[in-house]
Amino acid sequence: MALMTVYVDGERHRALPGQTVAALLLATGHRSWRTTRLGGRPRGVFCGIGVCYDCLLVVNGLPDVRACLRELRDGDRVETLRGARLPACTEAPETVRPVRDTADAEEADDEADEVA
Ligand code: FES
Repeated sequence: MALMTVYVDGERHRALPGQTVAALLLATGHRSWRTTRLGGRPRGVFCGIGVCYDCLLVVNGLPDVRACLRELRDGDRVETLRGARLPACTEAPETVRPVRDTADAEEADDEADEVA
């Protein structure tokens, strides 16, 4: 059985085919690998079957991966979490556009009429 090479917070580890991220972390002495957003309380495996979401971490840049379900693949890069990592937002959604007040809207409309 060929061992795989994976990285946890940049540290090189050897893993078995079929081994989950949580199994590797527990086998290497980790008991928690993220903290809660509020209070910074430690979290690791709780249910071990994908129900509680306590074991979230980052795998290959993808956040919110459940360590208890994700089987390791050769070359995986696992990152533990401190607090929450929110997804990047590149564009403001339609619902948060600023609302112009009536005077500004009329002035803008007048300017648009002058240009046209
Ligand atoms: S330990 Fe509960 S979802 Fe992973």
